[in-house]
Amino acid sequence: MRIRSATLSLLALCFSAEAREAKEYDSDVNYDDAKTPHYDLPPLLVTSDGRQITTADQWHHIRRPEILSLFSNLIYGRVPKPSSPVTVEFEVARSDPEFMNSTATRKDIKIHLSNKNGRMAMHVVLFVPNKASKPVPCFLKHSFQNTTSDDFREALLRPGKLKNGWPLGKFIEQGYALCAVYHEDLVGHNEVNFRNGIHKLFYPKGQSFPKAHEWGVISACAWGAMRAMDYLEADQDIDHTRVAVMGHSKMGKTALWTAAQDTRFALAISAQSGCAGAALWRRKSGETLKKMVTRFPYWLCRNAWKFVEQEDDLPVDQHMLLACIAPRPVYVHSSTNDTWADPRGEYLSAYHAGEAYRLLGVNSSLSSRKSPAIGQAIIESHIGYHLREGGHSIEAYDWDRFLEFANFHLQPATR
Ligand code: GCU
Repeated sequence: MRIRSATLSLLALCFSAEAREAKEYDSDVNYDDAKTPHYDLPPLLVTSDGRQITTADQWHHIRRPEILSLFSNLIYGRVPKPSSPVTVEFEVARSDPEFMNSTATRKDIKIHLSNKNGRMAMHVVLFVPNKASKPVPCFLKHSFQNTTSDDFREALLRPGKLKNGWPLGKFIEQGYALCAVYHEDLVGHNEVNFRNGIHKLFYPKGQSFPKAHEWGVISACAWGAMRAMDYLEADQDIDHTRVAVMGHSKMGKTALWTAAQDTRFALAISAQSGCAGAALWRRKSGETLKKMVTRFPYWLCRNAWKFVEQEDDLPVDQHMLLACIAPRPVYVHSSTNDTWADPRGEYLSAYHAGEAYRLLGVNSSLSSRKSPAIGQAIIESHIGYHLREGGHSIEAYDWDRFLEFANFHLQPATR
């Protein structure tokens, strides 16, 4: 009997290890919920000096700015004042009204950024539905793909096949514009390329690397999305009051940080954002702060390094990031086998953010601490969520849920 159960648990172990796509660096990582440490989350509605937050006004004027400042200084890094003002100029380099059998207009936009330290350009691609009455709502996607590259068109049209394929046709049919910002235009993600990115425009004489509290990769990408939003505000085809920001994985982390800071974004979608995204630091489940800063030292600011294996000392946890988006709708997507991103931690963060939504009079937040069943999407709630069977990717099912969530919360008739 004992042999039989040992065999069974060994088999279960093999299957689960296979299912979660084991990686070479995860030998010392916890994936077992039973082994999650006991933790207390920092209270969302109590200020650092112990004042209770009881009104929307106090939230907006005291607690939210305090939380954003903590995330800026300790996690993602603060965007410093540039040494000389950065000029932002838009150039519509190409406009093709016959894109996708004339169903959409593709605009290739260059956002020129310049000051005394130099200049750089960020490419933004925008697809506007031709038939829909203007202005249209828009999804702004933090993109892994270089939107000027040859394989980009392929990637657009093959949802689920490529890591970040997009069902562009569905967006166009449903009357949405889709805008993509390619993050590596702004900042390279390794130490060498990192030095040649947007940061250099901001350095005073003599500085060549961000200070410990200054912006890492994620903050730089979020800053870029805000410049893309500047463009969208100027484009007559786009209803800039109905722009959803979204991203997958590292770009999911960025989407949340973008929306948390910039209230011009009406809605945020985090797809499998995991560590430094929706997942709670204190659970130390899947990717941890230690893993993140060891493998990707510049994604966060260097102050974050100080909290490695000291997560309980952090004055924030990621539910507070989601709370900074309140009362705007936010959607979190997890998958069963994407345990590196800690699906349970992603859900709990969304659940705990509800306190801020309720304070702001939005009662539609997640009602149960228990994660919903696989495939049971929560759409008609300001905090939405779904857990899909499978691994680390965005599949057609996920895109459909994102559109459903946006349809429910962004369409003028239902707002
Ligand atoms: C790595 C990293 C994650 C990140 C992911 C991605 O797995 O550890 O934090 O989300 O890459 O961006 O695909």
